[in-house]
Amino acid sequence: MPSAKRVKSPLYEVRRSSIQGRGAFAIRPIRKGQRVDEYVGEPITHAEADRRYDDSDGRHHTFLFILDDDTVLDARTHGSDARYINHSCDPNCETIIDDGHIWINAITSIKPETEIAYDYQFEWQNNYEPDDVRYYACRCGTAECRGTILKVPVYLRATVRKWLAGDDVPKPRKPRKKVAKKIAKKAAKKASKQAKKKTSTKKAAKPPAQRKVMR
Ligand SMILES: C[S@@+](CC[C@H](N)C(=O)[O-])C[C@H]1O[C@@H](n2cnc3c(N)ncnc32)[C@H](O)[C@@H]1O
Ligand SMILES: [Zn+2]
Repeated sequence: MPSAKRVKSPLYEVRRSSIQGRGAFAIRPIRKGQRVDEYVGEPITHAEADRRYDDSDGRHHTFLFILDDDTVLDARTHGSDARYINHSCDPNCETIIDDGHIWINAITSIKPETEIAYDYQFEWQNNYEPDDVRYYACRCGTAECRGTILKVPVYLRATVRKWLAGDDVPKPRKPRKKVAKKIAKKAAKKASKQAKKKTSTKKAAKPPAQRKVMR
């Protein structure tokens, strides 16, 4: 007799989200380190991704995830429910790219009803201006929210905060590598001090191995 196939029951379901549109919500307890899902999509080139999502409607919304320098996964038509996982600046998941697969793993334990999210960390482009930062505004609503789903370089964080508050101060020059390292070290020290102060057991999320495609 053929053995019965084990059907895995899903860890989350898609519902309306207060962050944006639809989101993924845990329906079972998820352990820290547990694999939540795979980001599945149609493999396309970066040029094709740019062609498909030209943002001409004035709003940023994509189902893209960069796999590597040549390939982007477009989950709009050939995707799994993982495409509905929203961005958070204080995420409970991270993404790992391994052997051509994009995995979404929990970095904290997640209770049922909690929205599942990871940090998109869209790559910063040097020509960004205040309007671009506002275009990629973040609505994660967490205390850690940096106001934008862009990954903001350390030397620009204070500037971006001002831009988001409506004060369009000029962009500072990119510091030389040595100075940039010093600034990053200082910021990391500050972040680790703040993390220690927290009573929760949460650890800072590792950045995802790859970012979503920019417009
Ligand atoms: C892969 S979709 C995620 C699912 C999306 N909520 C939906 O219903 O289609 C990614 C898009 O969701 C939106 N999004 C996700 N997280 C966001 C956040 N924290 N703040 C604002 N928009 C967000 C952005 O428009 C982004 O391009
Ligand atoms: Zn945020």
